[in-house]
Amino acid sequence: MSLSRPLAAAAAATVPDELHLEIMVRLPALPQALARASAVCPEWRRVVRDAAFLRRHRELHGGVPATAGFFHNTVVFGGAPGGARFVCAGAGPLALSVPPSVSRQGVPCCHTHVNPGDAWTVLDCRGGRVLLGCCRFSCYFLVYNPITGKRCLVKAASHKRLHLHHSIRCNATLICDDDDADADGPFRVAAVYTTVTDGGRLFGAAFLSRTGRWTTAPQVFVDLPRGIDLRGEPSAVVGSTAYLSAYSYLVLAFDVEHWTMATFQRPPRCGNARLMKTRGDGVLGLVGALELTVRLWAREAGGWVLRSTVELSDMGLLRDLPSAPLPSSDARFPLLPPVKIIGVAEEGDAVFLWTMLGIFMFCPGSMELKKVCEETRDIEMVHPYASFYVPTRNSRSCSRHGGSREQRPLRRDAVRGLLRHVAELAAASGGGGAAVVDVGRAAFAAMASLLFGALFSAGIDAATSCRFRDAAREFALLTMTPNVSEFFPVVAMADLQGLRRRTARHITWMYQLIDGHVERRMRGRETAGGCGAAHGEKEKDLLDVMLDMSEKEEQNDDSSLTMNRGVIRAFMADLLMAGSETSSAVIEWAMAELLQNPQTMTKLQEELKKVIGSKTCIDEEDIDQLPYLQAVIKETHRLHPAIPLLMYKAAVPVEIQGYKIPKETTVIVNTWAIHQNSEVWIEPDKFIPERFLQKEISLSSGSTNMELIPFSAGRRFCLGYPVANRMLHVMLASLVHQFQWTLPEVVKKNGGVDMAEKFGITLSMATPLHAIAKNIV
Ligand code: HEM
Repeated sequence: MSLSRPLAAAAAATVPDELHLEIMVRLPALPQALARASAVCPEWRRVVRDAAFLRRHRELHGGVPATAGFFHNTVVFGGAPGGARFVCAGAGPLALSVPPSVSRQGVPCCHTHVNPGDAWTVLDCRGGRVLLGCCRFSCYFLVYNPITGKRCLVKAASHKRLHLHHSIRCNATLICDDDDADADGPFRVAAVYTTVTDGGRLFGAAFLSRTGRWTTAPQVFVDLPRGIDLRGEPSAVVGSTAYLSAYSYLVLAFDVEHWTMATFQRPPRCGNARLMKTRGDGVLGLVGALELTVRLWAREAGGWVLRSTVELSDMGLLRDLPSAPLPSSDARFPLLPPVKIIGVAEEGDAVFLWTMLGIFMFCPGSMELKKVCEETRDIEMVHPYASFYVPTRNSRSCSRHGGSREQRPLRRDAVRGLLRHVAELAAASGGGGAAVVDVGRAAFAAMASLLFGALFSAGIDAATSCRFRDAAREFALLTMTPNVSEFFPVVAMADLQGLRRRTARHITWMYQLIDGHVERRMRGRETAGGCGAAHGEKEKDLLDVMLDMSEKEEQNDDSSLTMNRGVIRAFMADLLMAGSETSSAVIEWAMAELLQNPQTMTKLQEELKKVIGSKTCIDEEDIDQLPYLQAVIKETHRLHPAIPLLMYKAAVPVEIQGYKIPKETTVIVNTWAIHQNSEVWIEPDKFIPERFLQKEISLSSGSTNMELIPFSAGRRFCLGYPVANRMLHVMLASLVHQFQWTLPEVVKKNGGVDMAEKFGITLSMATPLHAIAKNIV
């Protein structure tokens, strides 16, 4: 869905993506090589986080090391922590340093119990950064990136009930807010304190690097034994919740976004265990060792489910391990279990095992076991360090402007706007809070508001949104209407059907709208005296980024300007057209299918009730816990692909399965037909989301599932996928969760929703869906 290919032109002036990828793939297969390369070049940082890169790297080198190594706190005489150390788990030394002591950091020692010379101890490791605490009570925290050397010193929270005196115990978790762009991006520190005098009373506090402030949660009372032991064990983070170990059998869940704190028990007989985020589906997990058996649980629907059991005695490297407990030199614990779980990698892809034979890294996915350290004496707990090449879903540059967490408030506002719009309609209709809603139009307005925010930091009023939708829809129709003039060169100029004239009218309107924003911004930048965001202290939007590029090219006197006004205007129009009508069409089709299939609607409502409960706002993190919602969206994409025909032109002559395709041939990929292939799909014309519950099919750019390609595949894969995917799930879930939907009587009388398609570049409903929404109180 492209008005032009400005990106291709812009990319030609820089190094192509493939070359970046090839450079990175061919670096020595050492974690440090990747980590260091990612530190010097943002483009390389982007590449190493791409799933395609990891796959290529694995093919070439036979496996990417799961971690660069681990940090641990040395234990000195008397059991007191003696400072942080780093041990490299790969081949060759990786010199990651740890800030040596409080005094050398120049930390003001305003608390009597902070002794100059106190060493930093490691509390947590995530997103390529380490969270360190100084002194036993963590009066100061330090968030440290050992690759870039960046440090951020954080003084502990102050709260009227929270005196940082000796009776306090504390555990803290690092939550990185921006895992897909910047290694030194925003973060949060979630700290939980308890005092011996206030047994059972926990205090939560969260530090936000964006504001530079602590927010203290209301104190929470939980039924816990006096003097609860918060255990300095590594925590796990899932979404905005930090999970910490409390006492020896409890898990403490501290949600720093919704300010809730709760406890629940570990699974029975889990032995010595560590919390983790599970591989793949990213839910809370727990890995425990009992004698020589390692078990892995996942927290599903409020309970623990045993996922796998591994007998370590079957593994060659551990054959010499005694199965009975070992004598310990620590008088407090005379016996040690033969295997102790001492740490889990951030993405759950490696578990660190302490044994008398050394420390082993065990990968549950591949069942690989590797010794990473001979010396075990000092090591009680490890914090694996993975740096930048932890795989994430986002990869391409546009996703940084649309799919990243920086845009999360915009996405949230757009969904709230949609819900507000439907609720206002319901309130205005009077009749018991029920209203007829034009579902496609409402979803379009939400997407338009998101795109205008991301592109121009501006809102869009209702009238402009309506005009924009009419333009986008008619443009979609006109581009797919056969133009008689093109078949008869003699009358080519005549534009017999008036198609060119009508298309030009819409494009002109769209360009004028965009030009207005560009001109206002350029004037603002001039007044502000040069490049940079001209709208206060806010983050740069896409328009700022493009104007910066354009100005840089002008300063360099680049005669082959790739980022001129024309390119900016066409690219903006591309994004607006490609992003709005597609997403709203999918929402409209999904709602139509749900209204036509009440059992599916009920099943989805029940899943939402169970997972979301009374929460009014559905978060992007919740999507992972909603498999049926994901299945409904996939089934909608399958039956109603937003772009049913993809049109490409062969750049060079190619031969595919014996067919010779000359250069310049138009090649049409019929996505609609692929999605309806009866050799792949059972009952392909029926709406059956359940088919995706048994089948793992991915829609993302690196996927090899060519049977479902609503976002295309390969080089021309949808640039807006990260935004679109999140928005579709959150918008549909919110509409279904907050409102009860029915069809108007007249529609019911006519036999239900008219599911006829309107042909165009975007596959929309021939009869717009009107449905009645009633507030669920
Ligand atoms: C349900 C939502 C969406 C669907 C199904 C979808 C689907 C697609 C498909 C199939 C293509 C390939 C078109 C072709 O090769 O001709 C594409 C391209 C594109 N999409 Fe999306 N899209 C969606 C949402 C978005 C959003 C929200 C944005 C922007 C924020 C966006 C931006 C783009 C752009 C810029 C391209 C052109 C990429 C290129 O030429 O390299 N899309 N989309």
